[in-house]
Formats: sequence, structure tokens, C-alpha cells
Amino acid sequence: MKIAIGADHGGFELKQALIPFLQGRDIEVSDAGTYSVESVDYPTFGESVALLVAHGEADAGIVICGTGIGISIAANKLPGIRAALVTSPEMATLAKQHNNANVLALGGRILSVEIAEACVAAWLDASYEGGRHQRRLDKITEIETKSCQ
Ligand code: RB5
Repeated sequence: MKIAIGADHGGFELKQALIPFLQGRDIEVSDAGTYSVESVDYPTFGESVALLVAHGEADAGIVICGTGIGISIAANKLPGIRAALVTSPEMATLAKQHNNANVLALGGRILSVEIAEACVAAWLDASYEGGRHQRRLDKITEIETKSCQ
């Protein structure tokens, strides 16, 4: 399994902590940056990770900014991306079971490394349940085809 991970400066330290955690689970990691604590703009990294997932170059993605809010909004702009911002392992499990989230969003200034690792593990270990949830995901996909005009 290959996971793309990206963060802004607010998520940099958590990204650095999660990379060895993922590798320890035999996951190949594609690091889309940022590579220091220098201030950068989170949409750049949300887009990079989302593109890798949308193009099938990664099986899933993890995006991190200070709160996880901005970078999840950015990642969700790409068709086919279901980025879920979670703050607990329970939310992470449900994000996979019900929403089939292909990108996990985390807040580097919100979560401890331990809670973030527990969220990632819960998301990776859970399985999408399909059934009634697929009807709802299909409706989300339909929204992607709509124009605002
Ligand atoms: C950057 O200071 C901060 O705004 C960003 O990391 C994130 O929290 C935005 O949603």
C-alpha cells in the first residue's frame, strides 16, 4: 500500500512523526512536502496529495495543516476525493466505514502524535461498509458534475 502525505508548516512536525509510523506498518510513503517549518500555503499540499490519490499514484492520502480544516477543504476540491477531517479514532473508523474516505485530514496543532497515530491506525484498519452508504457516496459524486450557473 502506498500513502501520499502532505502538510503545511502547521502540520510539518506531525507529518514527520507519521512517516516512520506508516513505514513501520509496511506502507510505502510518498512525501509531498512541505519539508520545513517555513510558512507555506496549505492549498498547495492539499492539491498535491489529492492529485496523487485521484490519479491512482497513491492508494490513499493524509493531509495536515494547523487545524486540518484548510487543507481538507482544498483536497476536497478535486473530483473523487473524500477527505475527512477527524479528531478521534472513532471518527477515523467511521470516515472509512461510512464515507470511504480516501484522504485523512488531521490538525497538527490540535492532536498529539499519539492521538494522530491512533486516528491513522483506526482509518487504515477499518473497512468500507458499502450498502446504504454507497447510495450516499454516489450522490456526492453526482454533485461533482453540477455547475453553479
Ligand atoms: C496556518 O497558519 C494555518 O492557517 C493552517 O495551518 C491551517 O490551520 C488552516 O486551516
